[in-house]
Formats: sequence, C-alpha cells, structure tokens
Amino acid sequence: MRRARAGQFELQVLSRGRGMPVLLVHGFPLDHSMWDAQIAHLSQRWQIIAPDLRGFGGSQVTSGTVTMEQMADDLAALADTLGIDEPIVLCGLSMGGYVALEFWRKYAARLRGLVLCDTRAAADTPEAAAGRLETVERVLREGNEPLADAMLPKLFAPATLKNHPNLYALERQKILAAHPEGVAAALGGMATRRDFRDELANISLPALVIVGEHDSISTVDEMRSIAKAIAAAEFVIIPGSGHMTPLENPDGFNEAIELFLTRVERGS
Ligand code: MLT
Repeated sequence: MRRARAGQFELQVLSRGRGMPVLLVHGFPLDHSMWDAQIAHLSQRWQIIAPDLRGFGGSQVTSGTVTMEQMADDLAALADTLGIDEPIVLCGLSMGGYVALEFWRKYAARLRGLVLCDTRAAADTPEAAAGRLETVERVLREGNEPLADAMLPKLFAPATLKNHPNLYALERQKILAAHPEGVAAALGGMATRRDFRDELANISLPALVIVGEHDSISTVDEMRSIAKAIAAAEFVIIPGSGHMTPLENPDGFNEAIELFLTRVERGS
C-alpha cells in the first residue's frame, strides 16, 4: 500500500500486477480490503488498483460532505498520479457503484468497461436521505457503533451470518475503525447523489452487473433493471450471497469478473 496524491488530497492505494488496469471501488463504510480475494486472484493477470476512498481506510479524511462526484474526481486524479493513461475497467460495489456511475458520467473516455456490483441507479428517496442525515448527526455524536448494528444484519445473506460469523465480526471491526467524520461525509454525499436511471441507456461500454441472490439492499429485481437498461450489459446473480458478494462468495464472484475481463481484453 502507499499513499498517493489525488488532486488536493491523499489517498491510500494498493496496486498489484501488470496488464489491463482494473480499478476496484469499495462500499460504505469499508475500505479496499473488502476486495482482498479479488486482488489476490485477478492480479495474476491484470493490474489491480484498489484505493481507499476519501474518508476511509488509510486515506485522508475531510469533513463536511464529500459527494460521489468528488470521489470520482479523486479517482481520476489518482489514476493520473499512478501514470495510468490507458482506459481502465472500473468496478464498484454499492457506494463504489454510485462513484463508478459518476466516473462514467465525467470520464467515460477513460473507461474500457464497467462492473456494477450490488448497487443502485436510483437516488435516495426524500425519506432515505433524511434518514442518512439523522445518521450523520448520530455518528458525529456517538461514533459508528449504532451504524454498525443497523447495517451489519443487512449486509449478509442469512446463510453467511450462520456459517461465517468471522466475516460479520471482521466487517464489524472495520466499520468501528472507520473515521466518523469520513463516514458522515460519505453519508451526506450519498444522500444528495444523482439519479442515474435515465442515463443508463447512454452507457455504451461493455458492462457487467453483479448481484447477490439474497441482497436485501440492492435487490435482484433492481439490479436486473439496471442490466436491462444498459445495452451491452451481462447480468450475473451470485448464489448464496447477500450484499457483500466479493466476500460471501469470492469464487463465484471471481469467476464472473474474470470471464468479463477476459472478454473486455479480447474486445469480444
Ligand atoms: C454500501 O454498501 O456501500 C451501502 O449499502 C450503500 C448505501 O448505503 O446506499
């Protein structure tokens, strides 16, 4: 891992392997380590770049709101710092998917493919946005524990919770370790994010849309409608998984993304 400049800020980033650059963008309120199984597997064939978004992991924390657009700008600036000038495949999970859509909107020419995992194209409803803003206050007042308690049961499929309590414990640790100001800034950003549903038809890149069979946050039906709206999208349901597909079923996830990356690389 190293710290690298991203415009005015510094992000922590891991870059491993050589070949077609693939940028993995983590979900909320986690960090690059949610992609450990993908980094290990995919870096045997490609350059895998896994940053911590602003406010998370070892990256710089800024207060106030950090929008999805600002996070996408950070990633474009980071790619410049890393000297990546060939088009990248961008893969984002959940909040990482919101950032990926913003990156596509502003920097489509820098993309070779798009992978949207367990995410949403719709903006928050007014009720959801208001709920997030209440959580901002709570996190700044009390820390991340109430957020961890509220989020964790929704992240995993029931079978994962039963069979892999270690994953639950590990993610709980990560949520508790996240900086409350970084968490609050991203919550504000997600509450004000753009609605991309009418823009999906303009995505002409090869795309892969992945969802866990039991995802209760971004459901199979919602993800299927995203895949249908994008002309060149493949749709894959990862069996036995909830919202955290790369962690819950790493082999199934890796197989799907490896097939997609192989096709993108061949241009077929
Ligand atoms: C995530 O996993 O990144 C979150 O569920 C995104 C959200 O809260 O909308």
